[in-house]
Amino acid sequence: MRVLIVGGGGREHALAWKLAQSPHCEAIFAAPGNAGTAELGENLNIHDSDTAAICDAAAERRIDLVVVGPEAPLAAGLVDALTQQGIPAFGPTRDAAQIESSKWFAKSIMQAAGVPHAGGELFETAQAAHKWLEILGPDDLPVLKADGLAAGKGVIVPDHIDDAHEAIDQMFAGAFGSAGERVVIEDRLSGMEASAMAIVSGTDIVPLPLSCDYKRIMDNDQGPNTGGMGVYAPPGFVGDLEAVFASIHQPVVDQMFAGGIEFRGLLYAGLMIDDAATSVLEFNARFGDPETQAMLPLLDGDLLPVLAASARGEALPHNALTHSGKASVSVAIVSGGYPGPYDTGKPIHGLDAVDDSVDVFHAGTAIDDDGRTVTAGGRVLAVTAVADTLAEARGIAYDNVQRITFDGSFHRTDIALRELT
Ligand code: AMP
Ligand code: GLY
Repeated sequence: MRVLIVGGGGREHALAWKLAQSPHCEAIFAAPGNAGTAELGENLNIHDSDTAAICDAAAERRIDLVVVGPEAPLAAGLVDALTQQGIPAFGPTRDAAQIESSKWFAKSIMQAAGVPHAGGELFETAQAAHKWLEILGPDDLPVLKADGLAAGKGVIVPDHIDDAHEAIDQMFAGAFGSAGERVVIEDRLSGMEASAMAIVSGTDIVPLPLSCDYKRIMDNDQGPNTGGMGVYAPPGFVGDLEAVFASIHQPVVDQMFAGGIEFRGLLYAGLMIDDAATSVLEFNARFGDPETQAMLPLLDGDLLPVLAASARGEALPHNALTHSGKASVSVAIVSGGYPGPYDTGKPIHGLDAVDDSVDVFHAGTAIDDDGRTVTAGGRVLAVTAVADTLAEARGIAYDNVQRITFDGSFHRTDIALRELT
């Protein structure tokens, strides 16, 4: 099969890496890809938002399967457009992608399906939202969410009720564009977070290993949120894996199917787990980034037939993939200044000094005119190690992180540490 991966981050490099191992994979293309995907196939100079160009490129290159990485093209209807042209695409239609692109849609589905989640209310005016915050009282701090897609920035967890009122004003004033025209005010939950991903074809699901990502820039979860500073898998605090998928993913896809919206693609549940209960904080309609960089290396077997069956809406081959039972740790190396402004074009040194067993997934990288691999984004690389135990994987990952340098590089030093102390 000839496979086109849409996107250009660490998730897409990890997908390309796993799919390239399939005996059924003839060729890999990435749009736009990065220096990592360029080593596995051909990068196409097409932005992931250019639906028409992606459809044309897929037809011209006789692509058998398009795998869509990021959420924005899904919400914009890329899979609908490809399907109309007879090109199989892994990912939900625009309608089904609402499970991610509308927080309120997701809540309505969970409500109807009886899936435990953070309760909330939808507001269409600032006035009504302020009034609700006043009813809640000053000590009852909520979470505020722009209803639509806001590039991962639409969630506000205020430390003080005044901050909540201020955020409401900013959201309705257009801080998140049209995504913030409707705002959900949600109950604040506490506990440990984990990401649970499953490949879905209608009402058929293949559960994947759970993982935990780190969003804040600095150790001990200090500083601003980022696109992800690292991840480990699997978490030690989730007991019954099957119960998670049976009580969350299955009822949600069943509910969507019953309502006439068939989900095909990857369903990602962001979970909050405490001793008493597991609740859903959010759904994503795509592979998590950086979770995918730690999760795929824990899968034995062939990912390609599973994605292809999902894209065609067929029964999934349940024996194609097995969980290896190992552990993985993936550490992001980022540009100095990220998530604020940062420089690009810095030559990256030491990529050939890493152990053969370690996978370095590229995110913001490019090849410059002199053929050097240089930085091209905020998150630059994800150094991923797999071992029998989390402690070993962590040791190997950090040993190898030290060998890679570029001007201004930065990484967290505490990925997976919370499981080991
Ligand atoms: P999201 O974009 O929905 O993943 O939210 C970003 C982060 O906000 C999550 O990873 C949580 O740490 C936090 N968060 C979201 N919803 C809630 C909630 N209802 N209660 C507590 N924390 C939340
Ligand atoms: N790591 C969170 C996400 O992919 O949305």
